[in-house]
Amino acid sequence: MGQGLDRAFALEAVRVTEAAAIAAAKQIGRGQEKAADHAAVEAMRTAFNQLPIDGTVVIGEGERDEAPMLYIGEKVGSGGLAVDIALDPLEGTTLTAKALPNALAVMAMAEPGTLLNAPDTYMDKIAIGPGYPEGTIDLDAEPAANIVSLAKAKGVPPHEITALILERSRHEGIIASVRRAGAAVRLITDGDVAGVIATTDPQTGVDIYMGQGGAPEGVLAAAALRCVGGQMQTRLVFRNDDERARAAKWGVTDLKRKYLLMDLASGDVIFAATGVTDGSMLSGVHVQGEFITTESIVMRSATHTVRWVKGKHLRKHAG
Ligand code: FBP
Repeated sequence: MGQGLDRAFALEAVRVTEAAAIAAAKQIGRGQEKAADHAAVEAMRTAFNQLPIDGTVVIGEGERDEAPMLYIGEKVGSGGLAVDIALDPLEGTTLTAKALPNALAVMAMAEPGTLLNAPDTYMDKIAIGPGYPEGTIDLDAEPAANIVSLAKAKGVPPHEITALILERSRHEGIIASVRRAGAAVRLITDGDVAGVIATTDPQTGVDIYMGQGGAPEGVLAAAALRCVGGQMQTRLVFRNDDERARAAKWGVTDLKRKYLLMDLASGDVIFAATGVTDGSMLSGVHVQGEFITTESIVMRSATHTVRWVKGKHLRKHAG
């Protein structure tokens, strides 16, 4: 990706996530996950197709036979720069349906061939923000050992560490181990892209993300960490032969491979997210009279620039 194009595309990326967030926001609190997702997908696709890119969706809404729009392999854009795209038009469908915090519209654009073609399986993840020595965390170590190691690297006792974990029964062991080490556990009901990103911002009070979430979300989170720094280790999790077959289809040969940050997103990347519901990182979409307001973050790995973009959209143009 050329330097000039990179810069121009940062704002274009925000237009795409803004469009998805505004569309999804109409469904906040309406209990309709599918309708919320559908609205976001349609709006994001329309916005993508206005961009001068030759885009290929590599992380999308699913495989072609199961997702009518923004499926893996779909071409988007009106022609131009070749980019690979990872997207989640609505990360937190349940959060949106229930009007809970931290739902986001998310996407990343990267140099072709540099994002992991992750199958739609689960992924074990561990992530911390920037500023720690390499090797501070290890996916294969006990959660408690990671807490102790991180506390040492941060120069604080373990009880000053907070781990963010998705509230799922599969995480009972991790939660117990983290608490045994003395750290606090903050539980979230959904949204582990925001969860991983939270580790990069001291204001959130979150030091480490641990647990199993979606593999596509893992690639999106990695794209964000490539822009702001941090460490992440992951491994795909397969529950059955169908999932193993999917992985093979996407070229995964070593099913037990540990993927580090650079294995998930190795090239130049732009990451953008817009808040749908209010969250710890971004305000959600709000309607104020004739206007709709949005808050987005956009970052580039080339320069590590992070921008917060507040949008004020005339309602009749923004939908
Ligand atoms: P959706 O927006 O697709 O519902 O994903 C929300 C999410 O919480 C992700 O952030 C996370 O990676 C995944 O679901 C966890 O999966 P599960 O709900 O099956 O535990």
